[in-house]
Amino acid sequence: MKVDGQAYRSLWFDEASESVAFIDQNKLPHSFRIDHLQSLEDAAEAILHMGVRGAPLIGATAAFGMYLALRADPSPHSEEQAARTLLATRPTAVNLRWAIERLRERLRQTPGPERTAIALEEARQIAEDDVKTCEAIGDHGLTCLEKIWKEKSGKQEALRILTHCNAGWLATVDWGTALAPVYKAHRAGIPIQVWVDETRPRSQGAKLTAWELAAEGIAHKLIVDSASGHVMQRGLVDCCIVGSDRTSASGDVCNKIGTYPTALAARDNEIPFYVALPTSTIDWEIDDGLREIPIEERDANEVCEVSGITAAGKMETVRVPPLGTPAANYAFDVTPRHLVSGLITERGVFTANPTELSLLKKQLNRE
Ligand code: MRU
Repeated sequence: MKVDGQAYRSLWFDEASESVAFIDQNKLPHSFRIDHLQSLEDAAEAILHMGVRGAPLIGATAAFGMYLALRADPSPHSEEQAARTLLATRPTAVNLRWAIERLRERLRQTPGPERTAIALEEARQIAEDDVKTCEAIGDHGLTCLEKIWKEKSGKQEALRILTHCNAGWLATVDWGTALAPVYKAHRAGIPIQVWVDETRPRSQGAKLTAWELAAEGIAHKLIVDSASGHVMQRGLVDCCIVGSDRTSASGDVCNKIGTYPTALAARDNEIPFYVALPTSTIDWEIDDGLREIPIEERDANEVCEVSGITAAGKMETVRVPPLGTPAANYAFDVTPRHLVSGLITERGVFTANPTELSLLKKQLNRE
């Protein structure tokens, strides 16, 4: 996607510096900075402190982290240690494990001296595939949006989509998951209006989704998370689309905290609730999402503090509750499959149920 007219990806291998370049998402939206990963430790740190975030992007970063570890020490011991370090960074997004396993599978067939080159090749391929996958999600999602717009056009000015967190191109290598269909629809000439949930505590909606949509010239309005039910009751939303960090084999969807109440409100108001995800986000080892998906719990300070830019242009963090107020910071929740209208994947749109997903699994296993 473009930033000030120039095409960017959220992460790429920079030949000149022989390092992995990424857009530092902790600096957005007030400052656009490219930073570089030179080592496994840099990659783990960027994932842990969310300079890169979003399930598919975490996966691609981890793959490059494996390469950086092997560049320093190509031994099997270093490979094992690197995998452990990266897997310990963030527990919920399964793309992290998926990307590491994919890269290690490739390494299993590779003798000593070629391991580093193969790791780089595979990491680059994972990033490349992510771009194609997300674009395909956009195409399949566009079909869903076109259907909805067909019924609405002539009666209202724009197709009104609500999204939660940031599942745009910043959360992937390019295009995004939930926002890919939005970008495709915008390019296809469908007038779009996006309701952007702020997404406390880290404000990925306010900081990242709002920034992305503005850069693409897509009309949008920021709301506090607790307003999403209200705008749905008022008849101001035609469709919800969110991303996923891990989806169970039966179709339960784990995504950013606040997704579940949004899905409940959508169901109560008979509004389609779509989840857009690459098939690499499906955890085939897990059946019951609510019981089995590990939910990341982050530092309670994220709940107690807000950060932003002052009128003088300075980044500042301030505390909201009284000093010493205990807080809990659950980063994700699980939306049970019966609340999901459809899973938009690169393979097409699937009903969130075990039977449909087992057919998808068979399709994937045949390749
Ligand atoms: O904690 P984050 O910012 O990594 O959480 C991101 C999300 O919850 C996204 O919705 C999800 O990863 C899907 S991204 C395409």
